[in-house]
Amino acid sequence: MDPLKICFISSEIVPFAKTGGLADVSGALGKYLDQAGHDVRLFMPLYDKIDTDKYDMHVVDFLQNITLNFNGFDITFTVVTTKLPDSNADVYLIHCPDLYHRGSIYTEDHDEYLRFVVLVRAVIESCQRMGWGPDVFHCNDWQSAMLPFYLKTVYQWDDLFANSRTILTIHNIGYQGIFGSDRLGPLNLQEWAHMLPQDDLADNMLNYMKTGLLLADVITTVSNTYAREIQTAEYGAGMEYILQQRSDHLIGIVNGVDYEDWNPETDEHLTHKYSSKRLAGKEKNKKELLESFNLPYRKGVPLFSIISRLTVQKGFDILEEILFEILQNYDLQFIVLGSGDDRYARLFHQAQYHFPQKFGFYEGYHIPLSHKIEAGSDIFVMPSRYEPCGLNQIYSLKYGTVPIVRKTGGLADTVEFYDWESDSGTGFVFEYYNSDSLKWAIDYAYTTYQHRDTWKRLMKRGMAQNFSWELQVQKYVDLYQHLVGVS
Ligand code: ADP
Ligand code: GLC
Repeated sequence: MDPLKICFISSEIVPFAKTGGLADVSGALGKYLDQAGHDVRLFMPLYDKIDTDKYDMHVVDFLQNITLNFNGFDITFTVVTTKLPDSNADVYLIHCPDLYHRGSIYTEDHDEYLRFVVLVRAVIESCQRMGWGPDVFHCNDWQSAMLPFYLKTVYQWDDLFANSRTILTIHNIGYQGIFGSDRLGPLNLQEWAHMLPQDDLADNMLNYMKTGLLLADVITTVSNTYAREIQTAEYGAGMEYILQQRSDHLIGIVNGVDYEDWNPETDEHLTHKYSSKRLAGKEKNKKELLESFNLPYRKGVPLFSIISRLTVQKGFDILEEILFEILQNYDLQFIVLGSGDDRYARLFHQAQYHFPQKFGFYEGYHIPLSHKIEAGSDIFVMPSRYEPCGLNQIYSLKYGTVPIVRKTGGLADTVEFYDWESDSGTGFVFEYYNSDSLKWAIDYAYTTYQHRDTWKRLMKRGMAQNFSWELQVQKYVDLYQHLVGVS
C-alpha cells in the first residue's frame, strides 16, 4: 500500500502552542501517522507565543512573501518549517505577524474571521507551490473548517486538488466561529454566497463550523457517544439538524493518549517514577505536591484534583453548589489547576481562603504542574456538562488517579462505572448533570478510598487500560483509505 499524503491543519499543535486537548491530539496524530509511514504535513499559525529559538526552524525558500488578495487589501505571509519533535513529520508555520502576533492564540479582535481564513488559504497556496496534492485535507474545529469551501470555490480550478478529500474533525461543537455575513465582502466571497445557507445570510451570519459540516466529505468527532449526542438539541449547539442529515458521514473516533508523554514510569516531570507494580512513588509525589501547595500531608486522607480550562463546559456550576459543604464535611483535600472564567477563579480563591489546610488553587497554565497533579492525587474530578472526548480522565487512569466523571461524551466511552458488588470498573460515573449526583459520586469515591485493598485493585484496573495512539491512529488511516478509495 502506498503511503497516504495527509495535510493536517490545526490552530494548536503540541509542543508549539496549546490551550487544550486539540493541541495534544494534533501533535500525537501527526507523530503516529508519520510513524505509520505516511507523508503527513502539519500546518498551523506561527504565533508570537511560540519560542522559535527552541526549535530548529527555517524559512522555506519557495514559500516567502506570498500575497493573498482580498477585497481592497492584501495579506502577505511566509512559511517557516521544522520537524515535529520525536518524528520525521514536517510542520509548516504560517508567519504573518500582523495576524498572529496578538499575545494569545485566539482573540476577540475585529479581524478574527480573517486570521483563520488566511490560515486556510495559506495552506492551500503552500500545497500549490509544493506541487503537492494531498489525498486528504484533515481539518480540525472551526479554525480550519472553511477549507472545504475554499477548495470547492476559489481554488476549484486547480486540478492538483481534483482527487483530494476533506475531513472535518469536531473537537468541540461549542465553538463555531460565527461572524457577520457582511465579512463576505472583505473576504471577496460574494460570488460564492449561493454555496452558503441562505437563512444564515439573511440573519447576517457566517458560521465557519457549519460551512465545514455542510461541505466536508466526512465529519469525525472524538468519541462515539459525542457523535450521537451532537445529533440532539441538548448537545448539538444548533448543528443537530445538519449532523442528523449527514449522520452517514459522521464517525466517532476516541482520542488516544501519547504514553511517551503521559506515563508515570517515565514522566520527566516527576521526582518519583512509579508503576502499578511499584506504587510507593505515587505517595511520595503526593507529599511533594501537597508541600508545594502549602497543604499538610496526613496519611489516609484522599487528595482530589482538577486540571482544566475554567469554563462552563467543565461542570463548575454544579461543583460550585456543593464545594464548601464537601470541604466542611469530609476529611479530604482538593487541588485545582486552571485558568479561564473569573467566576470560577473567584470560587477557588475563596475555597482556598476559607479552607487553607484543605484546598489549594494554582490559577494559570502550567504543564509540569499538570503532570505532578496527575501523579500526586488520588481522585480526579471531571463533572463536565459536555465533553467531546476529554484527555485528563484517560491520563488519570494511567496514573492510578481514579476519575469521577459524568456519563457524557468521551467520559462515558473511556471510564467504566465502578461496581463494588462485582468489584469491576475503573471510576465513579454519574449520570445526571446536577450537584446531588456529583455529591453522590464524591461520597462514593471517598467511602471506597477507605478500603485500601479494594482501592488498590480499582487503581490497578485503570492503570492497565490502554488508550494508546497506535491503536486509534489505525482508525484514521482506515478512514483515509476508505475515502480515497483504496480499501
Ligand atoms: P479541553 O481540550 O476541552 O480543554 P481535554 O481534557 O481534552 O479538554 O484536554 C485538556 C488538556 O489541557 C490536557 O492535556 C490538560 O492537562 C491541559 N490543561 C488544561 N488546563 C491546564 C492548565 N491550567 N495547565 C496545564 N495544562 C492544562
Ligand atoms: C476539545 C474537547 C475535549 C477533547 C479535545 C481534543 O477541546 O473539549 O473534550 O478531548 O478537544 O479532541
